[in-house]
Amino acid sequence: MTLDWDTSSAIHQPVMVQEVIEFLRPGKGKVIVDATVGTGGHLLSILRVARGESKVIGIDRDPKALEVAESRLGEISAVGKVSLYCENFRNIRSVLDREGVEQVDGILLDLGFSSLQLEDSSRGFSFRHDGLLDMRMGPDAKKTAGEIVNSFSEGEIAKILYQYGEEKWARRIARFIVQARERRPIKSTFELVKIVEDAVPVGARRGRKHPARKTFQALRIAVNEELDSLKEVITKGVECLASGGRIVVLSYHSLEDRLVKQMFGSLARESGYPPTHPLFTAPSLMVVTKKPVVPTREEIESNPRSKSAKLRVAERREG
Ligand SMILES: C[S@@+](CC[C@H](N)C(=O)[O-])C[C@H]1O[C@@H](n2cnc3c(N)ncnc32)[C@H](O)[C@@H]1O
Repeated sequence: MTLDWDTSSAIHQPVMVQEVIEFLRPGKGKVIVDATVGTGGHLLSILRVARGESKVIGIDRDPKALEVAESRLGEISAVGKVSLYCENFRNIRSVLDREGVEQVDGILLDLGFSSLQLEDSSRGFSFRHDGLLDMRMGPDAKKTAGEIVNSFSEGEIAKILYQYGEEKWARRIARFIVQARERRPIKSTFELVKIVEDAVPVGARRGRKHPARKTFQALRIAVNEELDSLKEVITKGVECLASGGRIVVLSYHSLEDRLVKQMFGSLARESGYPPTHPLFTAPSLMVVTKKPVVPTREEIESNPRSKSAKLRVAERREG
C-alpha cells in the first residue's frame, strides 16, 4: 500500500521496545493484541520477534494511524498472521469475537497520542501548531475540543481542567475562556493558547512548562474519554487473558499511571474472605512490576518523548 501523503516526519518512535517485548513474550502459538497500534513501531517489533508463529491482532481508533501502520508492514518479510481493527480498545472483547478468538496471551497498551497525531496541525492536539480545536483521536469520539470550550459551562470547563490537567489555575482559565467566547467563538489552538497565557499570571509561569500544556492535556483526555476507556480496557482485557497471559501498559502522565497502578492492585488483592465464604473471589492478577519500569538515560537522550514513560505489567492467574 502506498500513501498519498508524507508521513516521514511523523513516524512515531516506539518507547521501551525491548522491555515491552521481554514482558509480552511473543512466540509460538501465542495470541498477542497490540491495542494501540499507532504507526506500528511496537507492532513491527512484535511481528519480527514472533516470526510468523504468533497470531497478532492490532487495534487503533485512528484510521490514519492504521493506514501508516499497514503501509509499514511491507518492511518485514515474516509478517505472519496480523489483523488490524479500527476500534476503540474499550471494545476489545467484540474485536476478539469478530476474530474468533476466546483468550489471548498478551495485551499491549501504549497510551496517549502518537507523533503522527501531534504533528498534524489540522487535528489540534498541539499548542505549538496552529490548527482547528479538534483533538479527536478517531471518528468514534463524540465531541471536539472546540465544542467543549464553546458550549460547556464555566464550571464544567474548570472541572475538566482541574480533574484531567491537574491545572491549578483551572477556574481562572475557565473564566477567561467564557469571557473570550462571548466576544466570538474560539476556533483555533493558537486562540486558546493566547487565552490561557492571559489567564495564568506571569509570576506563576516561572518554572512551569508551557502554560497551555495542562489545558491541552485536559481537553484531549475529555474529548477522547481516555480514562474511562482505560478503565474499561483493563477490566475487559484481563477477562480475555489466558492463564499466565500478560497485560503490558505504557503510560505518560500521572493520571494514567495512577489508574493502572490502582486497577492492577485491586485485581491482585485477596477479597479478604476465606475460600468457603460466598463473597470470596480469587485475585485475577499478579502484579509483575512492583515498581514501574522507566526508560534508560540513553533512550531518553535519543527519544525525549520517552522521558515520562512508565511501564507496568500484570499477569493473569489461574482461576
Ligand atoms: C503512543 S501511540 C502508540 C504508538 C505505537 N505503539 C507505535 O509504536 O507506533 C497511542 C495510539 O493509541 C491510540 N489510542 C489511544 N486511545 C485509544 C483507544 N481508546 N482505543 C484505540 N486506540 C487508542 C491513538 O490513536 C494512538 O495512535
